[in-house]
Amino acid sequence: MCGIVGAVAQRDVAEILVEGLKRLEYRGYDSAGVAIIGNDQKLQRARRLGKVQELADALKTDPLLGGTGIAHTRWATHGAPSEINAHPHVSSDNIAVVHNGIIENHQMLREKLQALGYIFTSETDTEVIAHLVHHELKTADTLLAAVQTTVKQLEGAYGTVVMDSNDNSRIVVARSGSPLVIGYGLGENFIASDMMALLPVTRKFAFLEEGDVAEVTRYEVNVFAANGEAVIREAKEHDVSQESGDKGEYRHYMLKETYEQPTAIRNTLEGRLVGGKLDNNAFGENADDIFKEIEHVQIIACGTSYHSGMVARYWLEAIAGVSCNIEIASEFRYRKSHVPKNALIVTISQSGETADTLAALRLAKDLGYRASLTICNVKGSSLVRESDLAFMTKAGVEIGVASTKAFTTQLVGLLMMTLAIGKHHGMTEKEQQDIAQSLMMLPNKLDEVLALADSIEELAEDFADKHHALFLGRGDQYPIAMEGALKLKEISYIHAEAYAAGELKHGPLALIDAEMPVIVVAPQNDLIEKLKSNVEEVRARGGLMYVFADTDAKFDSDETMTVINVPHCDDIIAPIVYTLPLQLLSYYVAIIKGTDVDQPRNLAKSVTVE
Ligand code: G6P
Repeated sequence: MCGIVGAVAQRDVAEILVEGLKRLEYRGYDSAGVAIIGNDQKLQRARRLGKVQELADALKTDPLLGGTGIAHTRWATHGAPSEINAHPHVSSDNIAVVHNGIIENHQMLREKLQALGYIFTSETDTEVIAHLVHHELKTADTLLAAVQTTVKQLEGAYGTVVMDSNDNSRIVVARSGSPLVIGYGLGENFIASDMMALLPVTRKFAFLEEGDVAEVTRYEVNVFAANGEAVIREAKEHDVSQESGDKGEYRHYMLKETYEQPTAIRNTLEGRLVGGKLDNNAFGENADDIFKEIEHVQIIACGTSYHSGMVARYWLEAIAGVSCNIEIASEFRYRKSHVPKNALIVTISQSGETADTLAALRLAKDLGYRASLTICNVKGSSLVRESDLAFMTKAGVEIGVASTKAFTTQLVGLLMMTLAIGKHHGMTEKEQQDIAQSLMMLPNKLDEVLALADSIEELAEDFADKHHALFLGRGDQYPIAMEGALKLKEISYIHAEAYAAGELKHGPLALIDAEMPVIVVAPQNDLIEKLKSNVEEVRARGGLMYVFADTDAKFDSDETMTVINVPHCDDIIAPIVYTLPLQLLSYYVAIIKGTDVDQPRNLAKSVTVE
């Protein structure tokens, strides 16, 4: 998704801005650009289609010098990916704008501005902001005032940064639905859409709130709320490691992050499971009062996070004694739903900024849910700030667009949530202890599973010429099959579907032949015999199967079935354990296919637009 970096400094900032863009590359983009106010008060701009490196190379040949600048990585929404559509957009040679999000009333504004004589050079919605600010500046005293008047006319979600080459002492930023963070330096200040971008220059950050407009100079940051009143957005030091962005010895971030899962889970458990028991404060001080009262859980999420929520539904209803629904955020937010009595809304998100999930949370608040809890990996993100309770997964920064460690740490958080709710709804001490015990054993179990990597890599070769794949699972492994299918399509571009194995006979059996590999997740549980019957249904139709099976489940490889033995684990943690082989499979298939594993085409890490 789009990335923004900006700076007001004494030193030349082009390199800082481009480094910031590189640090946001993981979010996904198709073009990049930078604009700098030169010492002669002239606006200089460079834009390139493709990688940030292309822009960096262009700047090596033709450097842009100056201390005030803005930069952007674009993920096309209005107008195809092209240099012309890349940001920054400019009006009348002095106003430059970068923008994340979507301006919904851009067509009407475009026509109005064209009638005023403005000539548009791009197909983007963003360009209207540049011309509108220019137009407003004709009557406003300051750039700040012009931006304040401009944003009142914009509909939609945006984060935007504006500068005027006639005054290189300031940039003006506005937030409405798309995150922006201010980075405080010494005699210089920065802005970005994600603090990751600014880690090389500062650790001190303040987050803008919805509706804020801020004027940033080298020495001051003045923030104004939507009603125009001056407000303070507290700046805090953040302890994010600058090194978390490195790939280390691994070829891809996705592989590194897959291997980091045992550590990420240890970190997520630390301080929350104490002496084999869930700590009372694991979900915050007020959590117990809320968990006691609730009778229903509504989970909302998107993408991979949606799959972790699906597993949680199995856990909550089977163990915690509360009913649970789960829904995709973009569906929930646009339908009329019934709010059950004493219901807790749970959002799940690695980024904490997914536009649909955030909108669903805001809607749920209006609908009258008892309370909200978010399971999230980014401190200070919008979902964390706007929820009553927050459980931070400690996955560390996840760069690969295909989520790995964020997903498994979400599952750990959700299993702890099941414990925290269940203890007020009839779970026995012994049941709680058994789950806590299984969780404690999980990191070591995952180390054992990662040792299967070589055999999974060999298996991947069978997929080199395949165009489709089917994933099967039953019970709480059905969402894991869905997550496996999502991983394969995201990074290898092989069309993959997941089915609850019991549904095979209602349609997908028609697809089975030797060209359709069938991947089965088969832990040793009380559904194993049912699953074996489903496996036979596939075998009888000449299907080729790849079964990830518990060593105790007694599956044997033969000419139609390749079995990868997964070390035995407790039933409750099996969804987490069986996720890893599927992540590795999709990774190695993508390597064979030669795709861009960390930044798959058309996808973004953090989807801050609808
Ligand atoms: C994007 C990412 C996915 C992620 C989804 C939801 O599509 O590519 O990896 O699962 O957004 O994101 P969230 O940050 O809310 O978990």
